[in-house]
Amino acid sequence: MKTAVCPGSFDPITLGHLDIIKRASTLFDKVIVLVVVNPNKHPAFTAAERVEMIKKAVVGIENITVDSYEGLLIDYVRQVGAAAIVKGLRAMSDFEYEFQMALTNKKFLPCAETVFLTTGIQNMYLSSSLVKQVAQFNGDISDFVPTVLYDEIAARLIPKSDKGRE
Ligand code: PNS
Repeated sequence: MKTAVCPGSFDPITLGHLDIIKRASTLFDKVIVLVVVNPNKHPAFTAAERVEMIKKAVVGIENITVDSYEGLLIDYVRQVGAAAIVKGLRAMSDFEYEFQMALTNKKFLPCAETVFLTTGIQNMYLSSSLVKQVAQFNGDISDFVPTVLYDEIAARLIPKSDKGRE
């Protein structure tokens, strides 16, 4: 049984993330979507909120589970015995950082492979930071996040004074 870990901040999950997660679930027997907690960051959503949101976005896909972890990604991968780490690549600009991470992870855990999936063309420009930026100025984020999560994400990210204008 081959398990893959799909790690990320997911603050919040976007349609780009969801596309990668769903495609990974067709390639591996089991996929664990992992909210990695970085104590140096100040996320808009708590780790528990991010886990719950991802669970709602992947409901019905039997081989996907969701978890969170504070620590080195590779320690989690080792603990669960995963064969692979799956990451999405949007552009060459992602590559340099991801390549460094993949090589570092390979050094610590040689038996785990990093698998890169190219983003869907429709999601090339998408990121959680973009979602937060657009929402902050009451822009329309409905094409960026899973429909089932739109209300929850908008409620948190769109400034209160703008909500009456929707
Ligand atoms: O781009 P993201 O979504 O913020 O990615 C988060 C993560 C953890 C997948 C990425 O930073 C990574 O691959 N980090 C590897 C180093 C590590 O284990 N960090 C954990 C403590 S922050």
